[in-house]
Amino acid sequence: MRIFLIVGLITMSLCVQFSLLQMCACSEYGQTLCELYHYCSWNGTTCVDMDCQYLKTDEQCTGHSSDYKCKWHTDKCESHNYTCADFDKEDCGQKIYGFDCMWVDEKCQDFSCTSATEEDCSPFSCQMTREDNTCKEPQSLDCSSFSTAATCDQSDGYGNMCYFNDNSKCTQYDFFSTNCTDYSDVQEYCNQFCTYDDTSKTCKAKSCSDFINQHNCTIQLDLPGFKIIPCTWNGTTCYETTASELEQLDMQSCMNKTMVNYKWSFDNNKCTACTQFTSNPAFKYLSDYLKISYGFQIITIVIGLSLILN
Ligand SMILES: *[C@@H]1O[C@H](CO)[C@@H](O)[C@H](O)[C@H]1NC(C)=O
Ligand SMILES: *[C@@H]1O[C@H](CO)[C@@H](O)[C@H](O)[C@H]1NC(C)=O
Ligand SMILES: *[C@@H]1O[C@H](CO)[C@@H](O)[C@H](O)[C@H]1NC(C)=O
Ligand SMILES: *[C@@H]1O[C@H](CO)[C@@H](O)[C@H](O)[C@H]1NC(C)=O
Ligand SMILES: *[C@@H]1O[C@H](CO)[C@@H](O)[C@H](O)[C@H]1NC(C)=O
Ligand SMILES: *[C@@H]1O[C@H](CO)[C@@H](O)[C@H](O)[C@H]1NC(C)=O
Repeated sequence: MRIFLIVGLITMSLCVQFSLLQMCACSEYGQTLCELYHYCSWNGTTCVDMDCQYLKTDEQCTGHSSDYKCKWHTDKCESHNYTCADFDKEDCGQKIYGFDCMWVDEKCQDFSCTSATEEDCSPFSCQMTREDNTCKEPQSLDCSSFSTAATCDQSDGYGNMCYFNDNSKCTQYDFFSTNCTDYSDVQEYCNQFCTYDDTSKTCKAKSCSDFINQHNCTIQLDLPGFKIIPCTWNGTTCYETTASELEQLDMQSCMNKTMVNYKWSFDNNKCTACTQFTSNPAFKYLSDYLKISYGFQIITIVIGLSLILN
């Protein structure tokens, strides 16, 4: 896997893309970067994976600062198994911590389709219709039995959905396909996380060239491909950043644009590709379960990533 990725980076010398499923391993970092990333801990001599015993204050230890893995006991930080009941309102529904909870009756509780509000409901794991917005236990659907847009659009809770497509047919689709082409006849749905190309009339993966102004031209998120693509503005067009351009980024942009697949090298002040990787828990969750309520949770995950960078 690792060897494949290194080869991948070399052969794609013109443009560079990163997997959202991985990030630089802690062993890549010296003390400065190690202390910056909260998924790592400095053990005094080496950068190791975050370990409760190295977190020195209650604030660094308890709750979201340790991704709900540790808790402060009297005078030291220890590993702790949290349950939904331990979460406050703000963190309750955050699937990135690996818990499946929801906020009901002023308490954080285990997730259940039947008591989930419209906002908490997940079309991946529950049956949801666009028409009445109620959240139900998963149920198989026969898309061909629905004949109008109003009755058609719904998810079955097993990863499929019925969608009223551009040919006015209620048709079954994967709720989250890793191939944008699958959404070529549902333009509206395509544009939620892929790009509909009017010329070829197909749904295509997002790319830097989708950005038409300098302001947005930073990184492109290709969720179906689990990829992040750094972008650069050349004065007229937004294009994929090349490996040599990445090397010249400053420290802050190096971290921002490479989603922790490159690191800042203090030896030569260059943005440098990592060679060892660890799985990125936020997106590992996404790929393992895909049980996220669409849109809202993806935004949460993206915000989660920007927090990793702070
Ligand atoms: C830090 O971790 C490294 C690698 O696991 C280990 O060799 C070293 O002994 C540890 N140092 C301390 C002070 O625990
Ligand atoms: C947490 O749960 C795991 C698995 O059930 C168990 O092995 C571990 O000892 C528990 N840790 C604590 C701190 O209770
Ligand atoms: C997506 O599906 C299309 C049509 O089935 C196929 O031609 C294409 O190679 C697929 N792309 C990927 C990235 O799997
Ligand atoms: C770019 O940014 C502007 C303003 O922030 C926004 O209105 C626009 O929709 C964005 N999208 C693209 C693809 O350029
Ligand atoms: C920017 O890139 C586009 C497409 O590659 C090219 O046509 C254009 O000439 C470039 N502009 C500059 C200023 O380099
Ligand atoms: C990098 O990201 C941080 C946090 O999102 C932001 O505040 C900062 O302006 C970004 N810096 C650059 C150079 O893009």
